[in-house]
Amino acid sequence: MSEFERPVIRPRRLRRTPAIRAMVSETALRPEQLVLPAFVREGIDAPLPIGSMPGVVQHTRDTLRKAVVEAAEAGVKGVMLFGIPETKDSIGSAGTDPEGILNVAIADVKAEVGDAVVVMSDLCLDEFTDHGHCGVLREDGEVDNDATLERYAAMAVVQAAAGVDMVGPSGMMDGQVAVIRDALDATGHTDTGILAYGAKYASAFFGPFREAVDSSLQGDRRTYQQDYANAVEGVRESLLEVEQGADIVMVKPALAYLDVIRQVRDAVDVPVAAYNVSGEYAMVEAAAANGWIDREPAILETLTAIRRAGADVILTYWAVEAARLLR
Ligand code: PBG
Repeated sequence: MSEFERPVIRPRRLRRTPAIRAMVSETALRPEQLVLPAFVREGIDAPLPIGSMPGVVQHTRDTLRKAVVEAAEAGVKGVMLFGIPETKDSIGSAGTDPEGILNVAIADVKAEVGDAVVVMSDLCLDEFTDHGHCGVLREDGEVDNDATLERYAAMAVVQAAAGVDMVGPSGMMDGQVAVIRDALDATGHTDTGILAYGAKYASAFFGPFREAVDSSLQGDRRTYQQDYANAVEGVRESLLEVEQGADIVMVKPALAYLDVIRQVRDAVDVPVAAYNVSGEYAMVEAAAANGWIDREPAILETLTAIRRAGADVILTYWAVEAARLLR
């Protein structure tokens, strides 16, 4: 007999074979839980690559339709659409124009895939404003909460009329969900859902997205997006948005906020989504391109970790590829 005490409890028994490991695996990642964010740009004839997001493009109306069909074929169940208009102005007029790029793209995609894919649209002004803020500005340059709400209400109605299944208010204005729910109901769009960004942080990880939507943000978003030091505040605002009628609440970004995802999951009684954002995508892609990280395992580990933290739905630029890897 050796001198040390042999362990009686041996957790490694449950790791011994692939079959045992599969049997006791706690967290499942399914293609149906993935949502593909996609960009569509007005006035281009061919897709434009986004330099800071290798593999992601600004689509034409036509290639967007094809991309959504491809996503559906891979088993992805949702898309989140972002529009880039040719002309931006101070109030983001293109966002409420029924002929605006995002609104025509919603109708295009809906006509192509019907109910096979949940079509969602970003409901925010930053893609449409020349100053790059998520709302309209007061004279002193501050984002005007209540004036912005009126713009969001109008945007919601136009997006619903275009056929969207769920709108995604991402601007972090106070009272945005209540105003949007009201506007939708008043115009007969009672079945249009709201996926609300309840916990959205002023994050450096949105960097590549700004290139993706050609936004030249003046200043920063810290008077409306949350401080990354705060988790309680993320839970509070998620609860507020559920009270106001959110059907799904979202935490964003995802990877640096896994604790917030868990706390929100434990606090609300609606599905929780998490957005694996542009900077999180770019980090893995850049490291993989340098041979510093094994790309596919890193993607699956990232997405599974976000599920493990408590996300029911994940928005990820890897949606199609991950869905294929999971099949
Ligand atoms: C706002 C919006 C942003 C993102 C999604 N919706 C940018 C921001 O708030 O600054 C970022 C998504 C990403 O980084 O992948 N319309």
